[in-house]
Amino acid sequence: MNQDIERVLLSEEEIAAKVKEIGAKISEDYAGRDPIIISVLKGSFMFMADLVRAITIPCTVDFMSVSSYGSGTSSSGEVKIVKDFDNSIENRHVIIVEDILDSGRTLSYLMKTLKARGAASIALCTFLDKPERRVVPVEVAYSGFRVPDSFIVGYGLDYDQQYRNLPYVGVLKPSVYGE
Ligand code: PRP
Ligand code: MN
Ligand code: MG
Repeated sequence: MNQDIERVLLSEEEIAAKVKEIGAKISEDYAGRDPIIISVLKGSFMFMADLVRAITIPCTVDFMSVSSYGSGTSSSGEVKIVKDFDNSIENRHVIIVEDILDSGRTLSYLMKTLKARGAASIALCTFLDKPERRVVPVEVAYSGFRVPDSFIVGYGLDYDQQYRNLPYVGVLKPSVYGE
């Protein structure tokens, strides 16, 4: 295990089983609808790669990148699209893929913005959910695990851009972020 990790919260095996389950559910719900699966970079890249391999129906994949304004731990709630996805979503069924739902600001902004682009439907899929931290209510169709309000990294999630490559989700040692 990485020396900066206090404990493993979700093992590779637990993650793989959950992703399979979500993929199967999406395949069932979206059969015959050729959904567009959009990954919100960078955090969701690893979940996205595993999830689309667990989806057994025809689908399109695309990517977008957003940044939230404001500094420190609390953002201003304003989100900016840094890189937009390429496909038109007009009359298409869209699934937005995130690694974690925290305050809800990112997903609520995306939902609002993308609704104006004429999609037939938009659903949210998040690997992790930290409900204690919610500031803006968000309705999620697919959610992997509820996690406590501790500093977690791995499986795409970073601290200062590090630890995204860990194949598991772990709790970061407080000494790493200076406590
Ligand atoms: C993180 C995470 C979500 C968002 C969730 O992304 O990946 O996208 O924050 O927080 P919210 O619910 O409070 O909006 P971050 O902005 O750290 O960028 P990253 O994905 O590149 O790490
Ligand atoms: Mn992110
Ligand atoms: Mg981040």
